[in-house]
Amino acid sequence: MWSKVPRGPPDAIIGITEAFNNDKNPSRMNLGVGAYRDDDGKPYVLSSVKKAENIISSMNKEYAGIAGVEDFTRASVRLAYKDSVNLKNVAVVQSISGTGALRIGGEFLKRFYPHNKLVCLPTPTWGNHGAVFKDSGIDVTSYRYFDKNTNGLDLEGMLLDLKAFPERSVILLHACAHNPTGVDPSKSQWEEIANTIKARNHLVFFDMAYQGFASGDPNIDAFAVRYFAEQGIPILLAQSYAKNMGLYGERAGAFSVICESPDEAQSVLSQLKIIIRPMYSNPPIHGARIVSTILNSPEINQEWLGEVRLMADRITSMRAMLKKGLQEEKSLLNWDHITNQIGMFCYTGLNPMQVDRLTKEFHIYLTKDGRISMAGINSKNVKYLAKAIHEVTK
Ligand SMILES: Cc1ncc(COP(=O)(O)O)c(C=O)c1O
Repeated sequence: MWSKVPRGPPDAIIGITEAFNNDKNPSRMNLGVGAYRDDDGKPYVLSSVKKAENIISSMNKEYAGIAGVEDFTRASVRLAYKDSVNLKNVAVVQSISGTGALRIGGEFLKRFYPHNKLVCLPTPTWGNHGAVFKDSGIDVTSYRYFDKNTNGLDLEGMLLDLKAFPERSVILLHACAHNPTGVDPSKSQWEEIANTIKARNHLVFFDMAYQGFASGDPNIDAFAVRYFAEQGIPILLAQSYAKNMGLYGERAGAFSVICESPDEAQSVLSQLKIIIRPMYSNPPIHGARIVSTILNSPEINQEWLGEVRLMADRITSMRAMLKKGLQEEKSLLNWDHITNQIGMFCYTGLNPMQVDRLTKEFHIYLTKDGRISMAGINSKNVKYLAKAIHEVTK
């Protein structure tokens, strides 16, 4: 019956992990997947998460409402916006982590955005963005973002593209810790971007998958979202707790829309529920309860903030060690971008041939675009990585 179904290609990142798992070399490194590892290379369950799980363990397992766990969604928008917007004007639903939030957003745009059915994505962007929007019936186009010559932001190109898009375009922005480049605009660059977007009456779709991971402080990382909100720029927002609470498989996230009044927010919310109900009825409760416990109890919240900082700081120190390692190898190339970039990833600038050599000769697994997950590096393997990168780039 299904003999005509063509074999699809494997997912790029999952394929890397499979190849890594089949490699038995003791020096092997998986720098493909964007998941935090501790300094022993082990997955890390936050102590604040364990405490929250203890607290919620006596709760029953009844369904949440269609829009999810209310304490969670309310705390989520507060974490993102603080007091930069009247939260009564925000329509919010729980989502299947960040991906689900983007998917609901795509569906909402398709049904209700009156101006166009097109989302403008940065080049490059997270590999799944295009597919998520296309599957929602939304076309995608791109704007310049990364400058290969400087390994930094192409602000000029970006602003030109934002100006050239038709008025009221939908612009997807990574709120912080841009994936895959690790390049974020500075505060003053964000202000310029906001001015241009406002002048063109664009709608912004913020993808905030790493709040806290860039600087170590969720408040600092929310700068762009809050600044844009204060400027009165219309915003859709996707949030994820996969990275900043280490809740990857719990699939806890939120999608929200800033509206002009509480009444408008109620209408938008009603339509978001209509989108969700036939897709999966209502979201899972466990991850959302963990997040809401962490965000709503001051003591556990304080502990979580310490843990986010710890994760971000460990990544920052790996950046410094990797750059130092390359200098010790006497590399003649400039590796400043390793420490200039932030968040979970480093866009090394390695070309596909160099990436191939890293994998074949050194058992180091990463995506073909030269992106490495800094979280997979630790004090024991960083020297080996530096030596290998030097060998393939000298
Ligand atoms: C930029 C970006 N957006 C969204 C996501 C979605 O993550 P999740 O669905 O696990 O929350 C990721 C995950 O890697 C990401 O990097």
